[in-house]
Amino acid sequence: MIKISPSILAADFSRLGDEVKRLDPGGADYVHVDVMDGGFVPNLTVGPPVIAAVRPVTKLPFDVHLMIQRPSRYLDDYIRAGADILTVHLEAEEELEETLQAIRELGSRPGIAIKPNTSFQAVKPYMGLVDILVVMTVEPGFGGQEFMMEVMPKVEEARGFIDEAGLDVELEVDGGVDEITAGYAAKAGANVLVAGTAVYGGRVKRRIARIRESATKALS
Ligand code: DX5
Ligand code: ZN
Repeated sequence: MIKISPSILAADFSRLGDEVKRLDPGGADYVHVDVMDGGFVPNLTVGPPVIAAVRPVTKLPFDVHLMIQRPSRYLDDYIRAGADILTVHLEAEEELEETLQAIRELGSRPGIAIKPNTSFQAVKPYMGLVDILVVMTVEPGFGGQEFMMEVMPKVEEARGFIDEAGLDVELEVDGGVDEITAGYAAKAGANVLVAGTAVYGGRVKRRIARIRESATKALS
């Protein structure tokens, strides 16, 4: 089944609560929250107080994507704020095994994300410790960028490994997903699709439905 995780980075921040509220009736499966620290990536977005503020407006799981240096320092803050899924970048943390185990012990689903230039081989040793693998299809740091088709072979490799090993790991792609590229991502093996601009740039319900339809069609 294809899941849609709209990124609220593309939402109107002047009324963020209302924008998050649109997602459940809009057919979303998760709420994707992009956390950027201005260090790991050249942009600064939201932290635990903002997540805690919008947490009560929806029952949808919060899919929190940490693009911050040494995320192990803040796990408890993000989980107490409401992160149901907490994803850290392989490139941002040295104590990865301990960090992923700590996320699970704190009651959240651990995820690991890899930048476009990071190989699947680099993340393989951690696949047994996560519930979700995020393959970036843009260089992390901004919404509205172009989808990188050249990342699709890595998505296929990850899908092959997950199925062969019989792992219960969701495969998420993030960056430049719209109703066209959703088909390519699903065909390569992704089952969770993050979309910011392609969802909040218009009628949320219709756009989520079109992205899901395009992905589902690509699988038939
Ligand atoms: C980029 C973020 C993405 C981004 C997606 O660093 O991780 O989640 O907000 O936005 P679009 O769909 O506009 O590329
Ligand atoms: Zn993201």
